[in-house]
This record gives sequence, structure tokens and C-alpha cells, in this order.
Amino acid sequence: MNIGVDIEEIKRFAKYVKDKKYLKRVFTDEEISYSLAKKNAMQHLAARFAAKEAVWKALNTRNKRFMVTDISIKNNKDGRPQVYIRNKKCKKIDVSLSHTDKYVVAFAVVF
Ligand SMILES: CC(C)(COP(=O)(O)OP(=O)(O)OC[C@H]1O[C@@H](n2cnc3c(N)ncnc32)[C@H](O)[C@@H]1OP(=O)(O)O)[C@@H](O)C(=O)NCCC(=O)NCCS
Repeated sequence: MNIGVDIEEIKRFAKYVKDKKYLKRVFTDEEISYSLAKKNAMQHLAARFAAKEAVWKALNTRNKRFMVTDISIKNNKDGRPQVYIRNKKCKKIDVSLSHTDKYVVAFAVVF
């Protein structure tokens, strides 16, 4: 089993919310539409970014062609975040997210 964790300051994402080019470089269309539909889009974008980083740490990959953008997060119908690798649901990785007003944290397990 491997673990990974990441914490992000939400205000760091303020400048990105309206920058479609940046958003597209980092997030999938679904991650963008999920986050932008929420009252606090920055918080959800930051959480997804933290989740990608946490998963990347847990994967501990030496593959230089594997990018953080290969990881995406999609919530299931209950709201539970699920990890997708290159758009394919990955059942061997679990991630959990939490937000406060200022920070988001993500914790990932690869089992
Ligand atoms: C779902 C729940 C756990 C979210 O907790 P919260 O304190 O409101 O919010 P947090 O900031 O910690 O977490 C939010 C994230 O939880 C995740 N989440 C939502 N529903 C979830 C679920 N069913 N399972 C796992 N994770 C879930 C999401 O990733 C969400 O972030 P996102 O919208 O950016 O994807 C909470 O609203 C809830 O329903 N709790 C049950 C209440 C309860 O019984 N509490 C007593 C436990 S001892």
C-alpha cells in the first residue's frame, strides 16, 4: 500500500478561475464544469488539484511521461470522489478530500 497527501491554499487558485487556458491545461472538462457550477469554484478546483498531487505521490511513479494531468477526479452519484487515470476509473486508488475556508486537503491510497 502507498499513501500520498497534499494541502493547497485556496486563494492561490483565484487567478485561475477565469483563465480557461490554464484550467484546460490542468483539469478535465468535467472537473471544470463541476467546480464552476459550485458557489466556491476555487475551493473545488483547489481540492481537485490537491487530489491529483496526492494520487501522484501515492503512485510513486518513475515514469517521466506520467503527468499530473493524467489523473482526474470525478464524484460518484453519492458525491464520493473517484480517481480516473487517463479517463479510466481506477479502483485501486482511493482519495478523500476536505475543505475549510482557506485550505483544501487530499489524501490518497494506492492498494
Ligand atoms: C459528505 C460529507 C462527509 C462531507 O463533509 P463536509 O465536512 O461537509 O465537507 P468536507 O469539506 O470535509 O468534504 C467535502 C468533500 O467530501 C467529499 N464527499 C462528498 N460526499 C462524499 C461521500 N459520500 N463519501 C466520501 N466523500 C464525499 C467530496 O469530495 C467533497 O468535496 P468536492 O465536492 O470538492 O468533491 C458530509 O457532508 C456528510 O454528509 N457527512 C455525514 C454526516 C455524518 O453522519 N457525520 C457524522 C460522522 S461521525
